[in-house]
Amino acid sequence: MTTADPQAAAPDPIRYEGDTDGHLVLIDQTRLPVELVYIDCKDVETVWEAIKMLRVRGAPAIGIAAAYGVVVGVQTASSDSAEAFEARFHEVVEYLAGSRPTAVNLFWALDRLKGIFAAEKAAGKSNAEIHAALLTEARFIHEDDRKVCRAIGKHGAELITPSAGILTHCNAGGLATADYGTALAVMFTCHDQGKNIQVFVDETRPLLQGSRLTAWELMQRGISATLICDSMAAQVMKEGRISAVITGADRIAANGDSANKIGTYGVAVLAKAHGIPFYIAAPISTFDLSLPTGDGIPIELRDPVEITNGMGKQTAPDNVQVYNPAFDVTPAELIAGIITEKGVISPVTPENVAQVVAG
Ligand code: MRU
Repeated sequence: MTTADPQAAAPDPIRYEGDTDGHLVLIDQTRLPVELVYIDCKDVETVWEAIKMLRVRGAPAIGIAAAYGVVVGVQTASSDSAEAFEARFHEVVEYLAGSRPTAVNLFWALDRLKGIFAAEKAAGKSNAEIHAALLTEARFIHEDDRKVCRAIGKHGAELITPSAGILTHCNAGGLATADYGTALAVMFTCHDQGKNIQVFVDETRPLLQGSRLTAWELMQRGISATLICDSMAAQVMKEGRISAVITGADRIAANGDSANKIGTYGVAVLAKAHGIPFYIAAPISTFDLSLPTGDGIPIELRDPVEITNGMGKQTAPDNVQVYNPAFDVTPAELIAGIITEKGVISPVTPENVAQVVAG
């Protein structure tokens, strides 16, 4: 079996084709790195399924896909009465909000579309005009994320020395965003600056976003990537190979506690034990200031089959009990800095979070 050409130009993970009657095109990330396959999402059910099954995944990408999902979802009511169009809009928003619970970017994007709908309605706009405004907003969220990722990369690269060894967990790359990533944006920027970084990639059990996606993306850009099993991180740190850890986040509370892919908390504890700075790279849209601490972050529980039959092969006895939380929360005190498009929050305190996020 061959892998999708890692040297090919970075493909757009999310694309919207056409006008308000158009459709969303996503890379099916569950097929990478073996096949580069696109899915056409011509109805909201296909968008919901793509988010739920991680065909599109990563906090910013989920938000962008959901925004376009609303545009696609209201198409069925575009010629209905204003009341029916509005009812359909809210139905679609609620439906998409039920796809995955942890990444706040999903709810952030849906809230932005709700704000647009309310403003357009208050201005007496027609269904067609409201629909067009929703598409404009979805496109804005998408395009803005490209700039946000580049700014994160620039701020983060200032923290990284030439020839640094960097460990990352899960995939916070171009596939997880509009196109450049958050944690990986830092690495891409370092590479562009000529810093000869070495990246160690946790494979990220159970769904292997590290080995399937991050290793693929790094290789695509010619960055030295070394794949390790999650359980090898401590040894690699002890051997002195790591000078910084950088991961993404799905939701960050007001005190800086950060939810990310299951296993991130363990990596942060290991980094602390080895005196290695642990950084989160995330856009402002990933902060949830309504939650004072990470205790309030909803953690998605996923199907046991992802552990017992990972990648289609049975690796556990029939009917074994399974606990499969998809995320964990790293306490702020373990985080040396949060790299945002507005700069680096460090030290990570509620005051500094409030200043950067609100400022
Ligand atoms: O379950 P996933 O693959 O959606 O989890 C993704 C992560 O945990 C990412 O690190 C996070 O969303 C940041 S993506 C820029």
